[in-house]
Amino acid sequence: MGLINLLRLRRPKGMHIHLRQDDLLKLVVMFSNIYGWVLDIGNLLIPIKSPEQVRRRREEIEANNISFKFLLSVMLTEDMMPDLLEECHEAGADVLKYQPFGTTTNSQFGVRLEKLREKYDVLERALELRMIFTGHWELPYNPLTGKDIPLPLREELSIPYLSDVIDYFPGLTIGVEHISGRPMLQFVQQAPLNVFGGITAHHMGCTRADMRDQGSFNPHYSCRPVLKDFEDCLALMTAVSAEDNDNLIFTPDCAPHLKERKETMSDPPVGIFAPGHIGIPLIIQGLENVGLPIRETALNNFFSYNAERIYSLPPADDEIVLVREPCIVPAEYNGIVPLWAGRQLNWQMKEY
Ligand code: DOR
Ligand code: ZN
Repeated sequence: MGLINLLRLRRPKGMHIHLRQDDLLKLVVMFSNIYGWVLDIGNLLIPIKSPEQVRRRREEIEANNISFKFLLSVMLTEDMMPDLLEECHEAGADVLKYQPFGTTTNSQFGVRLEKLREKYDVLERALELRMIFTGHWELPYNPLTGKDIPLPLREELSIPYLSDVIDYFPGLTIGVEHISGRPMLQFVQQAPLNVFGGITAHHMGCTRADMRDQGSFNPHYSCRPVLKDFEDCLALMTAVSAEDNDNLIFTPDCAPHLKERKETMSDPPVGIFAPGHIGIPLIIQGLENVGLPIRETALNNFFSYNAERIYSLPPADDEIVLVREPCIVPAEYNGIVPLWAGRQLNWQMKEY
């Protein structure tokens, strides 16, 4: 088959975006316009966990773009209770998001993974309300000794806790956000039908080598879960490009932090600014680089159909167009360094 130079895809869904607040909110909303729908992640400095915050959040986002389409999440914190979750749902939140304590940005308010069982009454209510429960699955420390677990092992070691939720709640829709490594991918691929996995462009297209820039640490590729090895990227890309990718969706995890904070803090914040016009071409280029097929059916499942089914969203009614036209990703946008900054993309998005 000859080289394709143009690709039409149904308008994608971006089901995991940190829309943030204030100036960042403005910027992320603008860069998220290419998605038909997005899921806003509520891990703000003060996590979203009350009906008032949910209502305010909707207004805050709509003030930037009234026609922007999004779902809202509330965070599973220590003080989240079943009735409170129900009130948040009535106020407009459709998703219960879980970031275990100690895993990532603002996770200090999250329930500890080893205490998740104490919150099963909240998950029970999520099930009754038909909300989606989606999580950041990592175990940051050994619960018996308190000792830190090395970053590359954290995702895999969270599997028993995830497995317990799955066994306990066969009727709950359970998400595994940003799958980064082979053990979790295999686990999700063998999981029951109520379990779905999200994959980012950076976990598919970058490895831990990208976190090193001529020997020194490059904070712009630092995220959680941490980037893994090429074999992990290959496994993720193979799963995404396969025809049976029904329980995998695109979760961009666009998570900007100011360049200045990334570059000057001794413990820089984790998260990659991964807008769709960079992430989507990077995925296509990654598939090509390893010789995997560029199949519109599989890509449409991954970028839109599967999310529509899982999140009960209306079908996409238009398309995006990608053309083979090399370009260099800008070094920064408004003081934020994007994914793949200064590097070449072989594809560009047109008409979005
Ligand atoms: O790298 C990450 N950054 N992973 C997350 O789960 C959160 C995010 C953020 O909010 O910056
Ligand atoms: Zn995230």
